[in-house]
Amino acid sequence: MRDEILLEACGLCKSYPHPGGVVDVLRDVDLTVREGEVLAVVGRSGAGKSTLLHVLGGLEAPSAGTVTLLGQALWEGGETARARLRARHVGFVFQSHHLLPDFDALENVALAGLIAGLDPAEAEAQARGWLERFGMAHRITHHPVELSGGECARVALARALVPSPAVLLADEPTGNLDRQQADRVLEDVLGIMAESGKCLIMVTHDPHLARIAGRVLELDEGRISG
Ligand SMILES: Nc1ncnc2c1ncn2[C@@H]1O[C@H](COP(=O)(O)OP(=O)(O)OP(=O)(O)O)[C@@H](O)[C@H]1O
Ligand SMILES: [Mg+2]
Repeated sequence: MRDEILLEACGLCKSYPHPGGVVDVLRDVDLTVREGEVLAVVGRSGAGKSTLLHVLGGLEAPSAGTVTLLGQALWEGGETARARLRARHVGFVFQSHHLLPDFDALENVALAGLIAGLDPAEAEAQARGWLERFGMAHRITHHPVELSGGECARVALARALVPSPAVLLADEPTGNLDRQQADRVLEDVLGIMAESGKCLIMVTHDPHLARIAGRVLELDEGRISG
């Protein structure tokens, strides 16, 4: 069946306490994402796009509401169960990449495979494969400080894809890439998502990418439209 629900959010709210007053970032967000879907999340800077991705991916707890990943309530179990679900089924591309500075590109990517339960040889083979696919074969022994912004972006994407996640959450994944590279990388990723019935939710300010996505969600005042 191709329309199984992979990710579902109900009544999602996120507020941050702050000395200047509580900041309400997400207000009652409902979302259902099925196999093979590609969603673009758009909205002005500060609208809550990164926050939404963090809550959906199990990185930040919602203030209210539920997130269900592959039928499992993400925030009802303990941290260990959540970490396992995340490592195996969620690929996350951070807006600022968050690569580990002490590891080279290959190690950064392979580590995600190890954490997801791949054996070391398989994790390394997958890591090499993705890095090569993204034009990074000549930079695999470079550490993050020795990489350009666009190269870090490609390492971050490779790292997210290594565990073959059911859900890929990508925060401006092509922000540092030129048009041609962005199109090539995205084409690759979209092909994989479509073939394997996975889903991709990407934050983007790029109207071209938003057009490629099957659905566009606009975040405004913490609510979603679209
Ligand atoms: N820990 C926090 N405490 C208080 N406010 C926060 C905290 N984290 C985020 N915010 C606020 O939440 C709002 C949403 O932040 P978020 O990073 O989700 O925006 P965004 O839509 O991803 O923006 P951008 O396009 O600039 O990346 C911002 O106004 C920010 O100031
Ligand atoms: Mg952001």
